[in-house]
Amino acid sequence: MLTTAQGGPVSDDQNSLKIGARGPTVLEDFHFREKIFHFDHERIPERVVHARGYGAHGYFETYESMSKYTRADIFQRAGEKTPAFVRFSTVAGSKGSADLARDVRGFAVKLYTQEGNWDIVGNNIPVFFIQDAIKFPDLVHSVKEEPDRAFPQAQSAHDNFWDFISLTPESMHMIMWVMSDRAIPRSLRFMEGFGVHTFRMVNAKDESTFVKFHWKPKLGMQSVAWNEAVKINGADPDFHRRDLWDSIQAGNFPEWELQLQLFDQAFADSFDFDVLDATKLIPEEILAPIPVGRLVLNRMPDNFFAETEQVAFMTQNVPPGIDFSNDPLLQGRNFSYLDTQLKRLGGPNFTHIPINAPKCPFHHFQQDGHMAMRSPVGRVNYQPNSFGEGPRESPERGFRSFAEPEEGPKQRIRAESFADHYSQARQFYISQTPTEQGHIAAALTFELSKVKTPVIRERMVAHLLNIDDGLAKKVAADLGLKAMPKPADAAVATRQDLGAAPSLSILEN
Ligand code: HEM
Repeated sequence: MLTTAQGGPVSDDQNSLKIGARGPTVLEDFHFREKIFHFDHERIPERVVHARGYGAHGYFETYESMSKYTRADIFQRAGEKTPAFVRFSTVAGSKGSADLARDVRGFAVKLYTQEGNWDIVGNNIPVFFIQDAIKFPDLVHSVKEEPDRAFPQAQSAHDNFWDFISLTPESMHMIMWVMSDRAIPRSLRFMEGFGVHTFRMVNAKDESTFVKFHWKPKLGMQSVAWNEAVKINGADPDFHRRDLWDSIQAGNFPEWELQLQLFDQAFADSFDFDVLDATKLIPEEILAPIPVGRLVLNRMPDNFFAETEQVAFMTQNVPPGIDFSNDPLLQGRNFSYLDTQLKRLGGPNFTHIPINAPKCPFHHFQQDGHMAMRSPVGRVNYQPNSFGEGPRESPERGFRSFAEPEEGPKQRIRAESFADHYSQARQFYISQTPTEQGHIAAALTFELSKVKTPVIRERMVAHLLNIDDGLAKKVAADLGLKAMPKPADAAVATRQDLGAAPSLSILEN
């Protein structure tokens, strides 16, 4: 029987309550009011980034004990299965944008461990545009639609984006990846995932090992070509979500292996770049990732909104035995995600939503607030208390931050070790096959050809000259640049006051 939200049986859901056959609708029609009221409030804010996403349930299976490196419960027993939920996403487009945009893909994994939720909120590209989280609003403003004209939607081909990028040399490595075939995956099932930052694993003896997380697809990697992407976007903008839905419904469960790059401080110190710099990666030829488990996606959500939309990933969700590094991007993210969920999900009780609730026993004294679904039971809602009631801290089993010694002056600064913005961009470019290199050049030409401001194009070519001469010349020729700019001055490129002087043209230096 159809009922109201209050459980009242409904006799007629086709007609509102009126005076006479043609008269006005009456205010006392509580069924009509409740139905329309609820409909009016169906939308919540879309995510400020990664708005378009698609999720699936599954499990993570641990291959063997990693207790040497971490005390995290999830890594203690071979063969143990941990429930998981994954949300894949594009970054720039709105919730209704097309799947095949040239864009980074989010790869966010929630692992419901026995010691609370662990979120690895990653992307399909192992590096990022910026080194410090304070630049994130600028990056995202520049890539999203321009505020006066409200376009372009879900693509990076516009002046604002390339203006910001050309004034942000630290983004050059990421730009090479974003202009490569990686940014137009054939399917969500054929993508790698990366935790990007350097994290820590901490074992029972409180010894720390640095770690980078990588998800490797069992199916391998595949991309489409740009002309295919453009056609697919027009013909079937849901191409990626349909592919994931169809394959899981057909019992073809996509699978990824979790592989770790593990290293110590001495190894980190052996590089010219800084392992705390999210625009850099540790080449897998130098440090081979080791497989530690597999992730299998085997069930679609029952309800897209309840699960995929309401899932709240947060980098700060780590279990005991996993810890952060000082990467300034990661540190900023650890603040940002909690803050954004409060707004997006309407209050502090978003952990009460089933998709976000831990699947292990949990006890705390947090109470009240909008939409509270769980409240402390009994008299005591504080501790310590004299009644022997309620949960207690556990110095042994609880989360202890790795006791990294820190000291230094408080200052706004970026370390010199973050200064080289071109070497890894070059390494990535030359690691590509000639066909793939051609795709990068074509992508840069296509995107920059949409840029109306000449100096922005020239500034980009000036950066490309520091990456690969042939690439720069090809893009310059295809863009019809009249004269070749001078290479961007690497010293200027690393100046930290660059952002403070946005009119500065690298060409002039
Ligand atoms: C959302 C990854 C940097 C703020 C997301 C999502 C992913 C992601 C995968 C979507 C989560 C989902 O599916 O619900 C990354 C990666 C980054 C990065 C890999 C860099 C390595 C940042 C930074 C900030 C930030 C620096 C802010 C300082 C946000 C916000 C959301 C988001 C506010 C929306 C969250 C929501 O409403 O659910 N990010 N992000 N991200 N990210 Fe990031």
